[in-house]
Amino acid sequence: MNHSEKKSKSQKRQTRLSKFISESNGDLNSDYYVSAQPIVKWAVGKRGLIKKYSPYFPKKFNKYFEPFFGGGAIFFHMVSLGKIAEAKISDINEELINVYEVVKTKVDDLIEELKSGKYVNDKDIFYDIRAEEPIDPVLRAARLIYLNRTCFNGLYRVSKQGKFNVPFGKYPKNVKIFDEENLRNVNQCLQNVELTSEDFEESVKDARKGDFVYFDPPYIPLTDTAYFTNYTSEGFGMKEQERLAKVFKELDERECLVMESNSSAPIIWELYDGFDIKTVHAKRFISSDPNGRGGVKETFIRNFRTNSED
Ligand SMILES: C[S@@+](CC[C@H](N)C(=O)[O-])C[C@H]1O[C@@H](n2cnc3c(N)ncnc32)[C@H](O)[C@@H]1O
Repeated sequence: MNHSEKKSKSQKRQTRLSKFISESNGDLNSDYYVSAQPIVKWAVGKRGLIKKYSPYFPKKFNKYFEPFFGGGAIFFHMVSLGKIAEAKISDINEELINVYEVVKTKVDDLIEELKSGKYVNDKDIFYDIRAEEPIDPVLRAARLIYLNRTCFNGLYRVSKQGKFNVPFGKYPKNVKIFDEENLRNVNQCLQNVELTSEDFEESVKDARKGDFVYFDPPYIPLTDTAYFTNYTSEGFGMKEQERLAKVFKELDERECLVMESNSSAPIIWELYDGFDIKTVHAKRFISSDPNGRGGVKETFIRNFRTNSED
């Protein structure tokens, strides 16, 4: 099949998928609505963009897949709307997935540990806890939650030896390390959820027709120089972005509903030629901005449309 035949086949499929969503009356998939918030702050978290993204999510789908989970802002939002009955969430970061696994299966033990009096926002205590290498999953989860709340900007970065190396942050002494009620709500949200720590491609292998896959990968850098010098962010360079675009197309062929967030780097329009690409204005932290906070354009790419769009 040549390129234009492939494109027109894909466009027919996109129309069919959009019809599938539009014919739904917006009925919710599940009987329970749990209101929960992300447990960790994560780089490029989607929390601030939820309102902008909301009208563009499908109202109806089967299983939900989120393979670059991070803090999972979109997942928690969808759960609170009662839209998720079954889900698989994953991330390549094992320490992070361990947190969700522990919240799902041992929330009481985790809360007890976090309440033990050990996890205080103090510089010396921070460096002591940072140097620890616990093996027990509950202790690992408590450590990551603590470090995430007290380290510089809530970043997650490890050395070549795999040791967490973000410095102490400058938060008020009494900064909230965890919210017990929210942890219990997250525990509820995760009960029907499959959790894995794996690469995105492996994670969506089982996605089928009518399932919804939301990708929020490390973004393509905005500057050409960064792109042409093969800049990588979180080990996710152009090769990975191309592999992701290929997986996006395979999922489209399997008639899954697919949505991805990414930067507005010009290559996006090449990689996702033939799909619906929208640009949104995001307010977020950018390190090159002297004021620390600024606006940036982001894109989201889909193989479907919803009936709430013009
Ligand atoms: C942009 S963040 C996701 C932010 C998240 N959606 C949120 O709202 O907090 C990207 C995530 O992708 C993960 N990641 C990086 N490479 C990956 C890969 N090859 N497969 C799966 N996850 C990967 C990182 O560990 C990180 O948590």
